[in-house]
Amino acid sequence: MCGIVGYVGGKSALDVVVDGLRRLEYRGYDSAGVAIVDCEGDCRLDVVKKAGKLANLEKELQTTPMPGTTGIGHTRWATHGGPNDRNAHPHTSCDGAVAVIHNGIIENFRALRDGLESRGHELDSDTDTEVVAHLLEERYVGDLAEALRAVCGQLDGAFTLVAVHRDSPDMVVGARRNSPLVIGRGNGENFLASDVAAFIAHTREAVEIGQDEVVELRADGYTLTDFSGSPAVGREYHVDWDLSAAEKGGYPYFMLKEIAEQPAAVADTLRGRLSPDGGIVLDEVRLSDQDLRDVDKVFIVACGTAFYAGLIAKYAIEHWTRIPCEVDIASEFRYRDPVLDRRTLVVAISQSGETLDTLMAVKHAREQGARVLAISNTNGSTIPRESDAVFYTRAGPEVGVAATKTFLTQITATYLVALALAQARGLKWADEVAALVHQLEQMPALIERVLGTVEPVRELARELADARVVLFLGRHVGYPVALEGALKLKELAYMHAEGFPAGELKHGPIALVESGVPVVIIVPPRGRGSLHDKVVSNIQEVRARGARTVVIADEDDEAVLPYADVLIAVPTTPTLLAPLVTVVPLQVFACELAQARGLDVDQPRNLAKSVTVE
Ligand code: M6R
Repeated sequence: MCGIVGYVGGKSALDVVVDGLRRLEYRGYDSAGVAIVDCEGDCRLDVVKKAGKLANLEKELQTTPMPGTTGIGHTRWATHGGPNDRNAHPHTSCDGAVAVIHNGIIENFRALRDGLESRGHELDSDTDTEVVAHLLEERYVGDLAEALRAVCGQLDGAFTLVAVHRDSPDMVVGARRNSPLVIGRGNGENFLASDVAAFIAHTREAVEIGQDEVVELRADGYTLTDFSGSPAVGREYHVDWDLSAAEKGGYPYFMLKEIAEQPAAVADTLRGRLSPDGGIVLDEVRLSDQDLRDVDKVFIVACGTAFYAGLIAKYAIEHWTRIPCEVDIASEFRYRDPVLDRRTLVVAISQSGETLDTLMAVKHAREQGARVLAISNTNGSTIPRESDAVFYTRAGPEVGVAATKTFLTQITATYLVALALAQARGLKWADEVAALVHQLEQMPALIERVLGTVEPVRELARELADARVVLFLGRHVGYPVALEGALKLKELAYMHAEGFPAGELKHGPIALVESGVPVVIIVPPRGRGSLHDKVVSNIQEVRARGARTVVIADEDDEAVLPYADVLIAVPTTPTLLAPLVTVVPLQVFACELAQARGLDVDQPRNLAKSVTVE
């Protein structure tokens, strides 16, 4: 949830850390701060922090020289304590010698704080994090990594911690439990960050830090141990995207760039997925063929947009594999005590691979003996590491808080997983699988076509900038698309927007329709067994009650013409693939409407890109 950067090397730590924070600001923008160890003369620790976006801190730093080549920095998404200067990270000890930054929640901080206060510590902030600075002060006797290991043993909850100490000026230490922390290996310099984007300008060589491990980072290398001090080995990997992927590339917002990247993201996710013998290629499989054949129930767990990708996947999984599939909001999953056993496959979908609700659902599933397959966009992140099989989407970094290209790649990935399952169960021949993969391979060109025709959608969004409410209707795979359209509008434009299954309309939601209310209707393709005609009736029903109908339909669908106040035509696709084109105008609509309202599209209020607290 928060962004963390640490640096030790020969450059200005402040420059490196602030540049890293700029690339991590999507993780939280309630406040930002830095701590630099300055050893010109006697070593001292300088800390500057400011509420609000990183720009506020940068302004403050213009008049605050901070020399030094060891430092840490943080962008915050507030949990404990309001978003003000006092609660901004880094937090320091009473003697000002230690500075700590943190991502996660320390659940037993109240008891720890009471203990510290009874021992004479004075704490300054309302945060859970500050206790760590004071505990490190108590534990430090010359070895900062040892002190951190001891402190970690006292903490409950999820945490990434990174700290510096005035008296250990050549090192940064870090610890990781459940929240991400990665090492960047440079030449005579090293980096720590919650996301490789922070150091990609300096190095593409990364090392995953494992669960419950502590790192001591120096300019000439690093040492990894577990919390008890036994040596640990991190997985080294090469980051296969470069700096330009994490930059705006001429677009005013990351979201616009990421919408435009969707054809390539889907094509990349599909590339090389069909093996020479006609099988589907996953990225990591720690399951046997028999395990896949034995699956008799699928649960999908995910949050937000990833959950909607899961709702779409359910249609393909049940249709192609005939295995019952349930889709659960990850934060609800373990609390409803689902029935799981070793024949259950839990598919966890998470762009970041670090959403704590999804991670906890994964852990619960595995404790019950279920197999877990992760679909993630983040190589080496926690959820894939905790899973039995992994499918990586290849969308590249997504910086805009609103998920766009990762949604399309998640749908693509779930379809391939469904085909792999169908094949394992002997329900699809290799040529049938190849034909479906081939259909998927046509989608990037169709998405590109949609992107070329969205100007009227932009105009419509500007026209509707003052609307109070927008309703979205869909059926079958169009229903999750309606939900996604509404979510995009809520999170970007702060508008009241709701998505409904069109068939439910008459059971309540139609009461919301009054004169002039925009209703966006996603119409299914025509064909045998299609719900097309029923949805066309729904358009007429809302129009008869004064709604302004915005109809998304196949480009050759003439049946909708009499009832569409605004028609958004999309290329004709097979039924299950329609979401890959119908959602695109809705993304553009929300993005444009938010801009028309003067809002920051990439950093909507109260949100952060990934949610690493429960
Ligand atoms: O990283 P994840 O895919 O696990 O994130 C899940 C949701 O938090 C995420 O999709 C969120 O709903 C987006 N902001 C929606 O645009």
